[in-house]
Amino acid sequence: MKAIGFQQHLPITDPKSLFEFELVKPTPKGHDLLVKVNAISVNPVDIGVRKNGHATLKKPKIIGWDAVGTVTEVGQKVTLFKKDDRVFYAGSFIRSGSNSEYQLVDERIVGIAPKKLSDAQAAAMPLTSLTAWEALFEQLEIDPKDKTNNHNKNILIINGSGGVGSVATQLAHWAGLNVIASASRPETISWTTAHGADKTVNHRKDLVTEVRQLGYKYVDYILELNDLDGHWNEMAELIKPSGHIASITENHRPINLRKLTTKRATFAWEWMYSKSYYQTSDMITQHQILNHISHLLDEGTIKSTINKKSSPINVDNLKMAHQLVETNHMVGKVVISN
Ligand SMILES: NC(=O)c1ccc[n+]([C@@H]2O[C@H](COP(=O)([O-])OP(=O)(O)OC[C@H]3O[C@@H](n4cnc5c(N)ncnc54)[C@H](OP(=O)(O)O)[C@@H]3O)[C@@H](O)[C@H]2O)c1
Repeated sequence: MKAIGFQQHLPITDPKSLFEFELVKPTPKGHDLLVKVNAISVNPVDIGVRKNGHATLKKPKIIGWDAVGTVTEVGQKVTLFKKDDRVFYAGSFIRSGSNSEYQLVDERIVGIAPKKLSDAQAAAMPLTSLTAWEALFEQLEIDPKDKTNNHNKNILIINGSGGVGSVATQLAHWAGLNVIASASRPETISWTTAHGADKTVNHRKDLVTEVRQLGYKYVDYILELNDLDGHWNEMAELIKPSGHIASITENHRPINLRKLTTKRATFAWEWMYSKSYYQTSDMITQHQILNHISHLLDEGTIKSTINKKSSPINVDNLKMAHQLVETNHMVGKVVISN
């Protein structure tokens, strides 16, 4: 089978930054599905893994964490799927990725693809939806069914128009929350408003001033989706006493948790890969979340966040998608399909 990968951590403009090669099609065992990949998307994690490092790898590394495809074979322990099912998933951080013709993936982190969406529309969704869902409904402990209570609460989503923000705003809106999302340009302001934000603030300005100008002294929840270091002091100031903050990004210097002491606010991390990385007992919740997302997409409660698309899956199109995500100004998602 064909795959695209890298052996050295090079700038994307280098001809060898990503290249195509051949390898043997794998055989599924245990809970694994073998999926014929039809569409993929690119996330910031692809850029980080491809770029960061110095060593030359012994064999090419295949990345890619988002796929839509068809199940072609199943392992002997598989119970959730069968041959010919159309599936979507983000995959695992420690296994070979979706930038290949066929991919092995554990059935417990796979969902049935939304029937009413094209492969490209569906491929925009898995990684960002899992991240947004787990951050909102597990780490921030918002109950999506308690709409009456949620109507009285507000959430600040920092980076409303990126991949994760474009789903998080929609899910927070669906849960009944009053959604304040950050966006810094006319294009991103209109995008995030069209994806569930009730009000917008500008993350290039002081967020405390921006939120207070809207009439809110504090917010009940904050979901941080870009630049934890840069926004930490603003979040500590804006969070309501007993409020909840969650972050999906890494800090590059120590964060001062003491700033939350007097408010007794909580801070939680979200890492979408945790469950599969540590093979936790609740790993199957990613199967359930993806099926739920699929249902919400099919009934039109939320919509695909696809914004840029190319075809077919090849080195040139993958490089273009990496270049777009590398700008840190991506709006919604970039997808490549066959
Ligand atoms: N922990 C996890 O499980 C997990 C999962 C997914 C992603 N992530 C991480 O979360 C981050 C966001 O992912 P993503 O896919 O949503 O990224 P993305 O789509 O690349 O985000 C791009 C957006 O970020 C906004 N932005 C740039 N600088 C900002 C700042 N200082 N403050 C607020 N917003 C800013 C840009 O808006 P403007 O152009 O308007 O400034 C742009 O629209 C990345 O660092 C990614 O690695 C973590």
